[in-house]
Amino acid sequence: MNITRKTRLQGEITVPGDKSISHRAVMFGALSKGTTEVTNFLQGADCLSTIDCFRKLGVEIENTPEHILIHGKGLHGLTESKAQLDTGNSGTTTRLISGILAGQKFRTTLTGDASICKRPMGRIITPLTEMGADIKSMNGNGCAPLEINPSALHGIHYNSPVASAQVKSAILLAGLYADGITKVTEPYLSRNHSEIMLNFFGANVTTENTTIAIEPEPVLEGRKVVVPGDISSAAYFIVAGLITPDSEILIKNVGINPTRDGIIKVCKAMGGNIEILNENDTNGEPTADILVKYSKLHGTTIEGSIIPTLIDELPIIAVLACFAEGTTVIKDAAELKVKESNRIDVMVNNLSLMKADITGTEDGMIIHGGKTLEGAVVESNLDHRIAMSFAIAGMNAEGTTTILNSDCVNISYPTFYQDLEKLYS
Ligand code: S3P
Repeated sequence: MNITRKTRLQGEITVPGDKSISHRAVMFGALSKGTTEVTNFLQGADCLSTIDCFRKLGVEIENTPEHILIHGKGLHGLTESKAQLDTGNSGTTTRLISGILAGQKFRTTLTGDASICKRPMGRIITPLTEMGADIKSMNGNGCAPLEINPSALHGIHYNSPVASAQVKSAILLAGLYADGITKVTEPYLSRNHSEIMLNFFGANVTTENTTIAIEPEPVLEGRKVVVPGDISSAAYFIVAGLITPDSEILIKNVGINPTRDGIIKVCKAMGGNIEILNENDTNGEPTADILVKYSKLHGTTIEGSIIPTLIDELPIIAVLACFAEGTTVIKDAAELKVKESNRIDVMVNNLSLMKADITGTEDGMIIHGGKTLEGAVVESNLDHRIAMSFAIAGMNAEGTTTILNSDCVNISYPTFYQDLEKLYS
């Protein structure tokens, strides 16, 4: 994909459904009685991996252009898969389904693509084993493929060393099958979509500060789920609007859950002209339209409890920082190293190729903004968020930027390049 400089991005855009919420709707629908209808489901490769896994576990799922229908099997109705489950590139599928599979009466093995087979699964193997699960890394390296055998689970109180919704959710889902209450305490609150949606389906999940508790054996009932637009996809247009001269973009119906809205807070702290309009609520998830205008920006420090609320947006925030006067410091974000790619190394390498002033640190990046970016050939490393970040950087750089392996946007935003083009054509 070749990208050249653009000005004046104008218009209205609707981004696809939220990835985290789409995954959960399929999973919780599968474990419920009755039918769950999901509209605005994200038809990205990751969420299709979740559908494929649950079909293999005996769940009938209809996927049509209007909606997804999941004919739930109840908490104890999944059946053994003859084939190994394949979670593709999806960390959310791998970790959340492991929590569910730990509570089943049959054996499952699961694997994913080359990236998934390098990502740390010890973070779920440790707490699930503490609950009594029989789960192991088949190659003994703490990564997928995983083998999960039947075993009785008991409730624990787990103090998670990382603020990770995937870890938290895996434990809570195993907690559905435990013999008592299961609790997870996180260092900072991570995205709470599991908590909101499990309660919507009939579970009893409570949150006190950063401790989340779940009661076992609820009767989950199928629901109608309307998925809000994904703020992690909206983030590319938010940043594009702020840094591309003479731009004004209205992004409609975006999920603005406070555990996900760090990008908006950071952009405003950097001087970004952003208005939140038409605030609403769908199934307990707050939504709004976001109006963004080209702005004069200054650097900031991003650290601590805000990090989990913008973890997936840090690559595009690194691009944003290149267009802000002064220094932006990103700290406490070592999690970036274990995402679909090592996002600290990849952002630093690629932005350096474009002549940005950026340095990687152990847990983040330091960016001195205000230097003109120059087009370069950059590798996505098959990481969707890297590819999308460099499309926005390339539109604001001299010359041509070539993104190698740019098709990986399919993971979370299959129509990304077409939607972007609508704003300047
Ligand atoms: C997700 C949680 C986050 C995020 C990922 C989706 C989820 O991962 O990076 O894209 O749906 O729970 P961690 O919870 O591991 O930080």
